[in-house]
Amino acid sequence: MLSKKIEKVLNAQVEKEFYSSNLYLAMASYTEVKGYPGVSQWLYAQAEEEKLHMMKFVLYINEIGGHAIIPALKQPPVEYGNIKQLFEAVLEHEQFITKSINDIVAACLEEKDFTTHNWIQWFVTEQVEEEASVNTILDKLALIGDNNLYLFDRDIMAVRSKETTV
Ligand code: FEO
Repeated sequence: MLSKKIEKVLNAQVEKEFYSSNLYLAMASYTEVKGYPGVSQWLYAQAEEEKLHMMKFVLYINEIGGHAIIPALKQPPVEYGNIKQLFEAVLEHEQFITKSINDIVAACLEEKDFTTHNWIQWFVTEQVEEEASVNTILDKLALIGDNNLYLFDRDIMAVRSKETTV
């Protein structure tokens, strides 16, 4: 039985995953225009992955008797500074999402919703992977400085968290 409280936090997460997708899409467009095709490709793929995350929440809410609400689009920023600043913004956003997933876990325990608690574990693991891949990218950027961004751009697709499906 889905409580109103859990339905509400799951719907709030639909919006956050949707925004994540749009944020990475905006970053992809920005880096494409700035001449980083590799970084842009990585971000376009990330945007698709976030859309899949949003879909997982939509389908789950409806499957367990709730009503998934599709939210209005919030416009992400247009400019993201340099490549390092952009990936720092990605990490900060993923940390925000991790906290949000952890809050859902806590709400499930409070409400004794062990079904959703079990289901959300996939996202707990996913967030570890997402933060790890962005940290790997930031480590590489710290190593190369501003000198070898051409090679970084060429090789970034090797740093991808595993593909996800609904
Ligand atoms: Fe769906 Fe990157 O969190």
